[in-house]
Amino acid sequence: MSDPPRADGQYRAVVIGSGMAGLFAALEASAMGPVLLITKAELHEGSTRHAQGGIAAAIGPDDSPEQHLADTIAAGAGLVDEAMARILVESAPRRIRDLERYGVSFDSDGSSRAFGREGAHRNARVLHARGDRTGAAITTALASQVASGRITVREHTLATAILLADGKTGGVVTLSENTGTERAFEAPAVILATGGAGAAFSHTTNPPVATGDGIALAFEAGAEVTDLEFYQFHPTAFRQEGAPPFLISEALRGEGAVLRDGDGQAFMPRYHPLADLAPRDIVARAMVSEMRAAGSDHVWLDCTALNGVDPIERFPGIAAFCGERGIDLRRDPVPVAPAAHYLMGGVRTDEWGRTTVPGLYACGESAATGVHGANRLASNSLLETVVFAKRSVEHIASGTGGAMAPMPDSTPFVPSGGAPREHAGVQRLLWEHAGIERTGEGLRAGLEAVRSWPTTEVEPSREGHERRWLAVLAELLLSAALTREESRGAHFRTDFPERDDARWARRQVFHRAG
Ligand code: FAD
Ligand code: SIN
Repeated sequence: MSDPPRADGQYRAVVIGSGMAGLFAALEASAMGPVLLITKAELHEGSTRHAQGGIAAAIGPDDSPEQHLADTIAAGAGLVDEAMARILVESAPRRIRDLERYGVSFDSDGSSRAFGREGAHRNARVLHARGDRTGAAITTALASQVASGRITVREHTLATAILLADGKTGGVVTLSENTGTERAFEAPAVILATGGAGAAFSHTTNPPVATGDGIALAFEAGAEVTDLEFYQFHPTAFRQEGAPPFLISEALRGEGAVLRDGDGQAFMPRYHPLADLAPRDIVARAMVSEMRAAGSDHVWLDCTALNGVDPIERFPGIAAFCGERGIDLRRDPVPVAPAAHYLMGGVRTDEWGRTTVPGLYACGESAATGVHGANRLASNSLLETVVFAKRSVEHIASGTGGAMAPMPDSTPFVPSGGAPREHAGVQRLLWEHAGIERTGEGLRAGLEAVRSWPTTEVEPSREGHERRWLAVLAELLLSAALTREESRGAHFRTDFPERDDARWARRQVFHRAG
């Protein structure tokens, strides 16, 4: 089965990134011919392996894709692309079968599948694996298939540019972290699967590799990017001085965990009829308001009285993390606060994962398919990775070619070209100026700061490139958030607190001028 590895030269496709989108795309694409999978850290690194709650799929007895679609549209606050979301929910059963074929084993309740429940889902429809270690279970299964297949894998290899020839994708330029060597690999199709950008914020649930590289790479290659003002802040990240980023899954609230203030009072019923299972943006803002009133940097998640579930058995990963810090989920509340979690925006793609540049595809968190609108429904992102990775590969295999049609009203944009001296500079700036609550004044100040960063040569290192890409992302995000003078989904402006459908029931798209 194994082809001789190709160290250089021509591939049928290059996949950038080895999260769920990249691993799945590489596996599916390997049926077409030689595939190169490059990834900037170890093969298993990415947001995927940290995923806890699970993957949404309307395959339970009392569920239907129509209901899943309705919940997805409701969460997306008026900006979900219905046709794309329909593809997402209707493809779910087939993609779940594919995952099982690749060796993913989802949890069951005796003889039937176990479904978890998360915020804004009307039904329990979230499949999980190894309790709350869903992402780790999926990554292990897919990565072992990749390792045994005919895919050439290059770890610690950063994609630094998309090669273009006559306006079409011709491959990728890479930088090896180990040797410092730059190389070019040719392929008629490149699939970006570089994930999100949570590491652009001071507080995040994401791993350090999540620096939004694919968005800047695609933008520099001429592709359109969109929805960058919509950054989802997860309400419940663990918050304790010195602790690493860690998520406390929403699935705990799905099983009955309750957010409480410092006096032990449950506060969410005062904010929304769905209380602790209200949409994420509402829960996150309620928490900010409670924290501000109490002068605290966290509230508490009480998991001591779940609905007939033992928190330690059902959530072994969270229990172990908390246990190492002296917190027993059966007895003690957990200190939590919101943190940057998921980028709804990204590289604009169509139903086949095509960008506006021929031969350049994007899938997973780096893509903006439109299925999440202004606010993603929990557990739809793992599903999105496989649905659109599969479709991208199908399109490449079809040989149809072409590209997504550009948006006539896309805004030409020239980034100022600077970069911060250190990664933390972007993180502080975005957390402060483009966080959970935004104002025109704050966004303008943030933009001014970005535009004052020095325009020096990019250092030929991973850190040097990441700082440059983070600056591009920050400038686009701040500009989009400043222009959108309304509040919708994850984008909340205290100076424009209402949703304004008359002016803003539309997506903002940017492309590089010239
Ligand atoms: P990732 O898994 O982030 O992978 C990106 C890959 O690209 C990495 O391998 C990275 O190293 C590589 N890369 C990036 N830039 C470059 C470059 N320039 N060159 C080479 N390689 C590069 N979603 C759900 O649906 N359900 C959940 O339960 C859930 N829980 C979550 C829990 C946590 C803690 C987090 C952080 C996210 C969670 N999400 C969840 C969101 C979901 O996990 C992600 O959206 C999804 O895994 C993204 O997959 P991906 O393949 O697009 O990107
Ligand atoms: C969680 O487990 O709370 C995360 C689920 C998601 O982000 O979809």
